Amino acid sequence: MSASKPLDYESPHKKSAKKFILKEYIQLTAGPANFSDRVLQALSMQCLNPLSKEMHLMMDEVKAMLQYLFQTTNPLTLVNQTSGSGGNESILTNLLDSGDKLVIAVGGTWGEKVQDMAQRYAIDVLAIRKPPGEIFTLEELEDAVKSHQANLLFVTHGESSGGTLQQLEGIGPMCHKYDCLLAVDAVASMGVDPLYTDRWQLDAVCTASQKAIGSPPGLCLLTFSPRAEKRIKAKKTKSPYYFDMTRQGLYFDCFVDDHSRQYHYTFSSNLLAALREALAQVCEEGLSEVWERHKRNSEYLWKKMGDIGLECFVEKVQNRFHGITCIKIPSGIDQLELLKFVKDKYDIEIAYGHGPTLNKAMRIGLLGQNSRPEVVDYLVQALKDGMEQLIKRGTN
Ligand SMILES: Cc1ncc(COP(=O)(O)O)c(C=O)c1O
Repeated sequence: MSASKPLDYESPHKKSAKKFILKEYIQLTAGPANFSDRVLQALSMQCLNPLSKEMHLMMDEVKAMLQYLFQTTNPLTLVNQTSGSGGNESILTNLLDSGDKLVIAVGGTWGEKVQDMAQRYAIDVLAIRKPPGEIFTLEELEDAVKSHQANLLFVTHGESSGGTLQQLEGIGPMCHKYDCLLAVDAVASMGVDPLYTDRWQLDAVCTASQKAIGSPPGLCLLTFSPRAEKRIKAKKTKSPYYFDMTRQGLYFDCFVDDHSRQYHYTFSSNLLAALREALAQVCEEGLSEVWERHKRNSEYLWKKMGDIGLECFVEKVQNRFHGITCIKIPSGIDQLELLKFVKDKYDIEIAYGHGPTLNKAMRIGLLGQNSRPEVVDYLVQALKDGMEQLIKRGTN
């Protein structure tokens, strides 16, 4: 602004008073996914006093549904008001002191980010890597845990950047042989592919509200095994205040020896009400049907994509994640033009590649309410039309 022109305090205010018109899209990116009508309705509720008995009741209900979702009886199962990244940071900072040893199985962007987080807390990190489309074997993980004398192994279950699904069975008992804990980033995979916290002996698992669960972004959902809870309580240095699971655990009434439900910070009753509704829908449908539906619809997508000449980026079917499908960019097609076409003409948003898929593949999320055959049919029609139009434009 030029020095001679006086500030106009009024006009910006008048501008912001105009209604912001939101267009609705079918969100087939790596998340957030569209909300159900029930979740939208829950979002229109008035706020609650965060210390009221109604809020406590809602927290108790959410906690019980989370235990079902995570397939666990862990008392320390709770919600923190942060996104999935904050959930991963909560795990690292509650289980490890600086100088502790961490192995990260990096299968894409999310493992890289956990490495960055850990280094900021001066944790001693060994990162192991696989080429795109591949997952770790139990032997590779065991070699790394053993050689680094790790206190914690961190793996990503559904890698939304590369489209792979890391097999988890057997890793927990292997880690425990070496007195190492196992943490799992299930931000993208929870409510998509099977995950059994207790049966597979997972010590810390994190997911987020906005993917297959289908509620607004802004909450991370966490569970810690009794082994992990013991480690949290024995930690030498304090965790960052906001992420302190001993404080948030008190608020969510997770400890058998203290039911004081002390306030930690103002928890959004509106986000919690939406999450409660989304979880209730998962519980009503039943987890096995939810998992089966995601598998069925992703397999249907892979088949329909093959029919129009599109190929999956992850070649081995057994390595593919059923939440996010990465499709190779078809030759002669500008992926950004194709993404723009399906958005403008069909109101569908899909994502470009990230990490291992950068400039190599597009990413399609069939998460939660969007995992339906009619969504697949509409999307494939949009992609087919888009490719034909772009090729026509190119040849004219
Ligand atoms: C596997 C995985 N981990 C972590 C995250 C980060 O979650 P957020 O964006 O909610 O912080 C994502 C987000 O896409 C993810 O897919």
